[in-house]
Amino acid sequence: MPIFDATDENIAKAARLIQAGEIVAFPTETVYGLGADAYNPAAVAKIFEAKNRPTFNPLISHIADVDFLKDYAETDTRVKALAKKFWPGPLTMVLKRKQFVESLDLACAGLPTVSVRMPNHPVALELIRKSATPIVAPSANRSQSISPTTAEHVDHSLGDRVPMILNGGSCGVGVESTIIDLTSKDIVLLRAGGIPMEEIAEFLGEPVLISGGNPNLPTSPGQMLKHYAPKYETRINVTEPTDDEFMIGFGDIDGHLNLSKSGDLREATANLFAFMHKAEEQTKYTKIAIAPIPMSGLGRAINDRIKRASYKD
Ligand code: TXA
Ligand code: MG
Repeated sequence: MPIFDATDENIAKAARLIQAGEIVAFPTETVYGLGADAYNPAAVAKIFEAKNRPTFNPLISHIADVDFLKDYAETDTRVKALAKKFWPGPLTMVLKRKQFVESLDLACAGLPTVSVRMPNHPVALELIRKSATPIVAPSANRSQSISPTTAEHVDHSLGDRVPMILNGGSCGVGVESTIIDLTSKDIVLLRAGGIPMEEIAEFLGEPVLISGGNPNLPTSPGQMLKHYAPKYETRINVTEPTDDEFMIGFGDIDGHLNLSKSGDLREATANLFAFMHKAEEQTKYTKIAIAPIPMSGLGRAINDRIKRASYKD
């Protein structure tokens, strides 16, 4: 089992692997990431291979200092203000690439943009600093399965494909970062995530547009795919489960598990993927049902993920 406690020594070992062109799984505050040196295409290729991820789907680079930005992204006062307010934290900004450093092409899937975030996790930050390079990292799961929020989840999905998984315990936020596109005048939400879009809109004093379904707004390659597909058929907005459904409740609508009995969306977000994993691991029920979740604040990210989970071809 490639799980290692995130001690200083093991973080240093992981950094040496990153510098040597290897991939390493590590904790962030959102979900576990599968990392490689952003500037090393051979290493980045290993991520796509391990995950079975289509190479047209770009990766987020993780930085430990805003100074990293000046090497590859165009910034303006709005970007700097957002970075100051929300970093480190679960906000990913899609920015124009500054110069066409060819070695970044695979990480950016050949796009003229780059996506960046500074994770709010001491292990992730230390790993990036010790590696002395931005680390590109998608969620550390095989494509189309549920994102990992523990080292054990990573091990189940990719244990035979990564030399090292740094164990930093459960991820506090539990859902991936919010992604916004800042390459035009308007701010466009590409993926709902750990920071509610209302908070971003309020901070900037301007609306955040939603890309889903609007052909005139930018989109994210990864969001077009069927995603987060659990092995059991999944139904959402359920108040009355059938006998063959494993029920994930919320608030007063109870189930075999309850995302948050008190109806706290933060608690529900942190539990979501771990509960989805549990629902998949159990064998007594052949289907999954999920209670209604309010569509505001973090509820937007939860609804986005469970809607994808319930998607039928
Ligand atoms: O919280 C997170 O963001 C986690 C942790 C590990 O940081 N990472 C993560 O990465 O969720 P991934 O690869 O599973 O999802 C990244 C999403 C994909 O849907 C991808 O298409 C989109 O970000 N993306 C990356 N770069 C982009 C770009 N330049 N333009 C538009 N979308 C982009
Ligand atoms: Mg993912």
